[in-house]
Amino acid sequence: MLVFAASDKGGTGRSVISANIAYRRALAGDDVCYLDFDFGSPTAAAVFDLPQAVRGISEGGLHSHLQGKLAEPVRLDIWAESEHPVLRSPLVGSGALVLLPGDRSGGEFAGGKDAVRRCAELFVRLNGEFDLVVVDLSAGRSYAADMVLEATAQPELSGVPSRWLIFHRWTRQHIVAAHGLVFGTRGIIAGGVVRGHDEDRLDGSIRFVRAAVPDPDLPLQSRMTPAQSVWMRTCDRDLGDLAAQLGLGFTRALGSVPLEPVLQWREQLITDDDVLGGGIATMETRQAFMDLADRLKDDAHWGRQ
Ligand SMILES: Nc1ncnc2c1ncn2[C@@H]1O[C@H](COP(=O)(O)OP(=O)(O)O)[C@@H](O)[C@H]1O
Ligand SMILES: [Mg+2]
Repeated sequence: MLVFAASDKGGTGRSVISANIAYRRALAGDDVCYLDFDFGSPTAAAVFDLPQAVRGISEGGLHSHLQGKLAEPVRLDIWAESEHPVLRSPLVGSGALVLLPGDRSGGEFAGGKDAVRRCAELFVRLNGEFDLVVVDLSAGRSYAADMVLEATAQPELSGVPSRWLIFHRWTRQHIVAAHGLVFGTRGIIAGGVVRGHDEDRLDGSIRFVRAAVPDPDLPLQSRMTPAQSVWMRTCDRDLGDLAAQLGLGFTRALGSVPLEPVLQWREQLITDDDVLGGGIATMETRQAFMDLADRLKDDAHWGRQ
């Protein structure tokens, strides 16, 4: 299965949350591959604690591969190469967890026909080898998003299940922007249909993820005055109404990740040790990642595809 992680804005939590979902799926036994298609602003390696690939690698990344400069892009085995002690000793039964980084200072690029063909071939190969291929796309209707819409419309990928996760923060502007990215006149659905995707099928393969959602009931907020608490609840309810009106309501939201203090300070995977051992991260965040990882593969949470 291919999973495309997209967001209209940068800084939504797309990379950190999709990396945590990839990690949870690997712990559940899936062989998982994570592609950094955020060509202008790579962060995935930092989340997986791979210092040699932070900001991309010097040679052999996805940019070079898609531009035809080398046949196979470099793969980094996260279990073997991460500097994170917990990642270095994966649990028995875990599947593979592999990162394909971009090139250092590779930047955004417009992929022509050849890049699209190489991209489609890469997806076919990786899909045959891994249970889950997560593709972290640049923000907005980027070249990367256009390239994967074009690639997935190719006949060789028609039988490969593809799903889209659209990340947005829990504010008015983020909800409106996420709606535009999917349903707008230049949005993913319109852009997909132009490239030959079936509208209903593409529509059914898109779900939203609410990121860094504050919870007025959590003890974190316990120092709030009653007036602040009432205001937050009203705001939360209004945002829920807005999301529902714009087609981002509960049936279209795959899940929601609470505002997590650890992630406000550092882009990282939340391990069980962080929650149960060290107690630095919250149970709710761990549960949110586990729920998203389950629902990602559960057809009941997706439309007709
Ligand atoms: N649930 C969360 N709670 C608090 N901060 C978060 C949460 N998820 C992500 N973040 C933080 O938000 C920032 C942006 O996240 P990132 O994944 O880099 O966004 P994007 O890939 O959309 O640009 C990072 O500093 C990240 O650690
Ligand atoms: Mg990112």
